[in-house]
Amino acid sequence: MAALKCKVIVLTGASGGIGQALASEFAQPGTYFALLARDKERLETVLNEVRSLGADGEAIAIDIRDRVQLHAYLSELDTRRPIDLVIANAGVTAGLGPQKSRESDEDCDRQIDVNYRGVVNTITGAVDAMQSRRRGQIVLISSLAGMRALPDMPSYSATKAAIIAYGHSLRGWLKPFGVSVSIICPGFVTSPMSARHKGSKPLEMSAEKAAKMMRRAIERRRAFYAFPFILALGIRLQNLLPPKLGDLFLGGFEAEIEDDPRYLAPEKNTKKL
Ligand SMILES: NC(=O)c1ccc[n+]([C@@H]2O[C@H](COP(=O)([O-])OP(=O)(O)OC[C@H]3O[C@@H](n4cnc5c(N)ncnc54)[C@H](OP(=O)(O)O)[C@@H]3O)[C@@H](O)[C@H]2O)c1
Repeated sequence: MAALKCKVIVLTGASGGIGQALASEFAQPGTYFALLARDKERLETVLNEVRSLGADGEAIAIDIRDRVQLHAYLSELDTRRPIDLVIANAGVTAGLGPQKSRESDEDCDRQIDVNYRGVVNTITGAVDAMQSRRRGQIVLISSLAGMRALPDMPSYSATKAAIIAYGHSLRGWLKPFGVSVSIICPGFVTSPMSARHKGSKPLEMSAEKAAKMMRRAIERRRAFYAFPFILALGIRLQNLLPPKLGDLFLGGFEAEIEDDPRYLAPEKNTKKL
């Protein structure tokens, strides 16, 4: 992994799934990670993994919805170790209610708060320093669902589409300041999140394989990277059709999304992670 010059990497959603795989993928001697999520114990496990691969870092339990705490941490980190790369990967998902009733207000708010506001908090906490240094790289993890909304995941799709729009805007703003922005849209990737996605998951791939593909795109500073190629191509072609015709192709993506045990009220949380 010699191509990447990043020494200090902030990675949100590092306590499992794609984030954990990205941490291992980027780990090498000389790399320092700020691994962020809410679950300190899981973060420590990931930190041990990256240390065993020669990297170093710190595990920071932060909820990215807490802008004050997140900004204070990122600005303090940047004074100690100027941040080279931010990967805004943390995200949550939810679907419709029982018998295809509407999303709960809580699920809707949570997805907006984590997937949009939390991602913006992550970027705004690091971007001033990058802009004044005229150096840095920002990576936003969206989803293929942000390129074509899925009927069973209205708010998730909307937040992921918002991230795409936010990323395109950031890229134009920050290019003259030497800061690059990449938007990444994965398809189905095996993780605790996708395990709760009950429905067909065409071309699902392991988090490790996805992380390898994402690393290549990040190293090349790709502006936009959607994968797997065939699924992304299908969505791009489908987006050329009139929307009602495009809708016909979405039948195969019907899904139910199980509750996220990490966000259930403690008394309801009987599921083991
Ligand atoms: N898996 C897929 O098929 C797929 C497809 C397309 C896009 N994506 C996107 O890829 C990203 C990673 O997904 P994944 O599959 O790895 O999901 P995951 O297994 O559920 O992991 C999500 C990560 O986000 C963290 N997180 C959640 N809420 C947080 C909060 N409020 N503050 C800080 N961290 C928080 C979680 O840690 P804590 O619970 O410890 O906070 C966890 O580390 C997400 O943005 C997702 O939308 C995934």
